Amino acid sequence: MGKVMVFDHPLIQHKVTMMRKKDTSTKDFRELAKEVVTLMTFEATRNLPLKDVEIETPMQKATLKMLDGEDIAIVPILRAGLGFVDGMLSLVPNAKVGHIGLYRDETTHEPVEYYCKLPKDIEKREIFVVDPMLATGGSATDAITMIKAKGGKNIKFLCLIAAPEGIEVLQNAHPDVDIYIAAKDECLNENKYILPGLGDAGDRLYGTK
Ligand code: PRP
Ligand code: URA
Repeated sequence: MGKVMVFDHPLIQHKVTMMRKKDTSTKDFRELAKEVVTLMTFEATRNLPLKDVEIETPMQKATLKMLDGEDIAIVPILRAGLGFVDGMLSLVPNAKVGHIGLYRDETTHEPVEYYCKLPKDIEKREIFVVDPMLATGGSATDAITMIKAKGGKNIKFLCLIAAPEGIEVLQNAHPDVDIYIAAKDECLNENKYILPGLGDAGDRLYGTK
């Protein structure tokens, strides 16, 4: 079973609480999302492979560590996942970015697919699927199924807020995927929104409501 890591760092907890407040502006919400994901990326990339390289410092030659190739892919689930891309790219600027378009049907709450474009060499890459919310788990599960169908293997999932139901669904469907969460919430309401949550992540990022 993949591991589930809930971040308890005070900076992350503070910033997620700021994002949850209903009066937080779109501008602040976007900035906070970028800050939180940058902090999460620092930890989620802890086990990236390194290789030995020979360099010359002003003092001498030395064999030291660098990342083993440009081998990362970031895959946001549209649209809210886009709010995570810049923060990740600020730490791993050579990553390739794929996109998966999914939205939840408002009545069935089932994900509906509308787009999938991934880097050609996706099978060789360490893949970070990103989406702020893991509610029923349907969107993340389908997105990862789509990536695996195109050859993706090494997959991690990063989200801001997860409901216990969504974690269970995703773990059962994709037990090989590690899940990184900034905050684990209590439950889903009757409309499958996370409580206490932060509302609709896409609307809050883009000011569409
Ligand atoms: C939100 C969120 C996830 C999904 C989570 O997207 O960004 O993709 O819901 O819910 P689930 O775990 O129950 O599938 P939404 O469908 O609202 O689309 P949007 O990003 O275009 O607003
Ligand atoms: N999608 C959201 O944006 N928020 C939720 O609480 C659940 C699904």
